Amino acid sequence: MNKYLIHDFAVKDQKVLVRVDFNVPLNRGVVVDDTRIQAALPTIKDLLNRGAAVILMSHLGRPKGTVKPEFTLAPVAAYLGDIIDAPVRFIAHIIGPEVDQAVSELKGGEVLMLENLRFDPRETQNDPEFAAELAKLADLYVNDAFGVSHRAHASVEALPRLMEGRNAAGYLLEKEIVYANKILKNPARPFTAVLGGAKVSDKITVIESLLEKVDNLIIGGGMANTFLKAMGYGVGKSLVEADKVELAHRLMVKAQGMGVGLFLPVDVVTAAEFLATSTPHYYAADAVPAEEMILDIGPATCEIFVAVLKESKLVVWNGPMGVFEMPAFASGTRTMAAYLAVCPAEVVVGGGDSAAAVKQLGYSEKMDHISTGGGAFLELMEGKILPGLAALTEK
Ligand code: 3PG
Repeated sequence: MNKYLIHDFAVKDQKVLVRVDFNVPLNRGVVVDDTRIQAALPTIKDLLNRGAAVILMSHLGRPKGTVKPEFTLAPVAAYLGDIIDAPVRFIAHIIGPEVDQAVSELKGGEVLMLENLRFDPRETQNDPEFAAELAKLADLYVNDAFGVSHRAHASVEALPRLMEGRNAAGYLLEKEIVYANKILKNPARPFTAVLGGAKVSDKITVIESLLEKVDNLIIGGGMANTFLKAMGYGVGKSLVEADKVELAHRLMVKAQGMGVGLFLPVDVVTAAEFLATSTPHYYAADAVPAEEMILDIGPATCEIFVAVLKESKLVVWNGPMGVFEMPAFASGTRTMAAYLAVCPAEVVVGGGDSAAAVKQLGYSEKMDHISTGGGAFLELMEGKILPGLAALTEK
């Protein structure tokens, strides 16, 4: 990565301000998924081991510039304190005299966590004065918040620009970029992308960008319905984006012209209602009855998709193959995840729903990389420049 990394800096007794993405799910103040906290530990621990005084800042949810107690980072700070071997102090402010005081008291090897950045409207406005207030707190700025690096927000964009030459990428950010480069710049071949999820419209630019790079494109999930419709199949009551059928057709023609193998479901699992209790039915993809809706890919499709994965050296997966939250319609996603967990190809799972599916199905440890970014991962795949990365100093 052509940016400064934290190990390029001597940090002993330095105040290091680290932007993390601790936007984690909470249930009544209890952290229910700590993936993003765990993912930032290599950076936090390295800084502490090297004697830095670490100031952590993050957003949580979308409180829209006002103080909303349900979005306080206090429970996240307490959770962090429980899992690292260092004192973590939480302060219910972002900037101001209380923070200045706490920062001046902070010693090497200790952690101070600021309150939710988005309690101040100037964070999402990328306000330069707010960024300057934050910059005053630190000797060094570290971005380890890949998940929010697609947002031009003050702590992500304006702040590192103010700290030119004193900003760095943390280990998580570095890892995310290494894998993104493997996908975008130097993919091992055959390279296969597996895309799923509900809507084509969410992923048009991703599909277009990946078509330029992959050898195979596998499409499942609700978005496959629009492609099946474009092939002239009746898809019953399935979710279809009528205004995207023509586009789906164009993408199929484009894939063919480019020699990219495009794989769609040949059989599907359906139900009469969108309910966990619905009885699953099995049909060929071109024979779905009018009163049924497609909720998963079928077993013959799984075999074909797995055969493609078997021949691949690099796989990127984004989006579930069906309604995996309902056990009756989870087998497509489960089969793909189970194979990806054991296949010899290098496997990168894009964040969001696919990361959740892999975790829920118990395969997290088996993947080469699971991105902590949802929107950020997709924007990178679209070939966009992420503001948070662009703002870091070039070497
Ligand atoms: C995410 O959860 O994808 C990141 O934390 C970014 O959150 P946002 O979509 O609210 O900016």
